Amino acid sequence: MAAVGLGALAPAATAADAGLPHLERQGAAVRLVVDGHPFLIRGGEVNNSAATNPAHLAPAWPRMQALHLNTLIIPAYWDQIEPEEGRFDFGTVDQELEQARAAGMHLVLLWFGTWKNSMSCYAPEWIKADLARFPRARDRGGRPSEILTAFADANLRADASAFAALLRHLRSVDGNRHTVLLVQVENEIGMIPDARDHCAQAEAAYDAAVPPAVLALLPGGRSSGTWRQIFGGDPAGEEIFMAWHFARYAETVAEAGKREYPLPMYVNAALIRPGYQPGQYPSGGPLPHLFAVWRAGAPAIDLLSPDIYFQDFAGWAGRYRQPGNPLFIPEARSGPEAAVNALYAYGQLDAIGFSPFAIDTLPEPAAKSLQASYDLVAQLEPLILSHAGDGSMAGLLPAGPEELKPRQLQIGAYELSVTFAAESLTGGLVLQLAPDEFLVAGTGLTITFSPASGVGTVGLLHAEEGEYRDGQWRETLRLSGDQTNQGRQIRLEPGRFSLQRVKLYRY
Ligand code: DGJ
Repeated sequence: MAAVGLGALAPAATAADAGLPHLERQGAAVRLVVDGHPFLIRGGEVNNSAATNPAHLAPAWPRMQALHLNTLIIPAYWDQIEPEEGRFDFGTVDQELEQARAAGMHLVLLWFGTWKNSMSCYAPEWIKADLARFPRARDRGGRPSEILTAFADANLRADASAFAALLRHLRSVDGNRHTVLLVQVENEIGMIPDARDHCAQAEAAYDAAVPPAVLALLPGGRSSGTWRQIFGGDPAGEEIFMAWHFARYAETVAEAGKREYPLPMYVNAALIRPGYQPGQYPSGGPLPHLFAVWRAGAPAIDLLSPDIYFQDFAGWAGRYRQPGNPLFIPEARSGPEAAVNALYAYGQLDAIGFSPFAIDTLPEPAAKSLQASYDLVAQLEPLILSHAGDGSMAGLLPAGPEELKPRQLQIGAYELSVTFAAESLTGGLVLQLAPDEFLVAGTGLTITFSPASGVGTVGLLHAEEGEYRDGQWRETLRLSGDQTNQGRQIRLEPGRFSLQRVKLYRY
């Protein structure tokens, strides 16, 4: 398998890097590989302030284990790590590394640096207090906000220096342990309340020439021109301007970190509410319509990732599953639907990881559903990993509560007709074990099989409910009669998550 991404910045691998977390291509998919083995993140992200004190986080670990998480996503805070310029304190990071190791779990670290939800609330006090040295973004009326501008070298150098120190420290304390799998660079980068920054440095940049890498992306293939000449006051053009400069900023920060410790890195996006215009949403972030700009501007960033809080989970997740962009969902709405959204992301989109937000305060019934779903994912992990990218696996998620007509899909020589239970949590994944054998995991699903060729009829040779334990299938119930509608279908009843295996025949 060939290594993927990581730009040209990763230093030559050393012996200590032998098991370094990295991305590798597997057919049409890309896998996260840790200590030499493919790894599937069953994640959860904690509330923003939960990791500021290890003692506050300590009681959460047993609950995370009970939910069958294998990875916790927690912030590393710039203001906590560099309380004075050039003086670094990694005490909190070190204690939370130890907590994760003691719980037998991994970490994804969020760099809450220059921007967090567009704002600079995690910039250290010595930065916030010195507006002259560390300039702010300004709106079109010239008003400053608590947003460090992307157009000031001092802001960029300060962030990159702190991030490099963090990665240097991670390599020294975790370079042989690989507890930390991925690092998120900033959080939900994006410009508000206007489509672009209007501070003096930004205005000067807007009068500068559009780089050839961006000109090449523009329809009509303009050969030259400044941003203002080409885009003027067009919000869409102003957003491309911000996307380029945000990408270049993130690139410099990521480069500085990867020179110290070349972990895979990603940026996450706040998505666009229907009808919102740039500025109304955090514009210029790593959004699907700006992928080409981000790819050109930030090659050291390995993943562009969505924070999916909207109803249309499948639609938004699918927009991020683009060639060269493995899907990692660092944040998702943490209702009961997270349990089936996870199965869909792994089964349909070869996600390398899924993570509901606010996992440390996950209420019922969402916790019970996620626990059951992640238990299935843990059982199926070797199969999900080995079947990724080869067309033998699919996610099953209704388009919405109104989708009552069966969903048709073809796997191998079979047409599957999937019906979703109305008025209940419903969804899952299906995986072809052998030409005539399938595994279905999830809840509230009814599946009938027919020959994709249209010739003949398909019957159930046998169907069973069961579980994988230590990699071995164990039948817990042979299914027939009413449970298969007298041999016509398989059905995963609503109200609980289950795993069924079915062998088919033709007549
Ligand atoms: C998305 C952000 O990335 C998180 O840090 C948090 O603010 C959530 N929104 C809250 O819903």
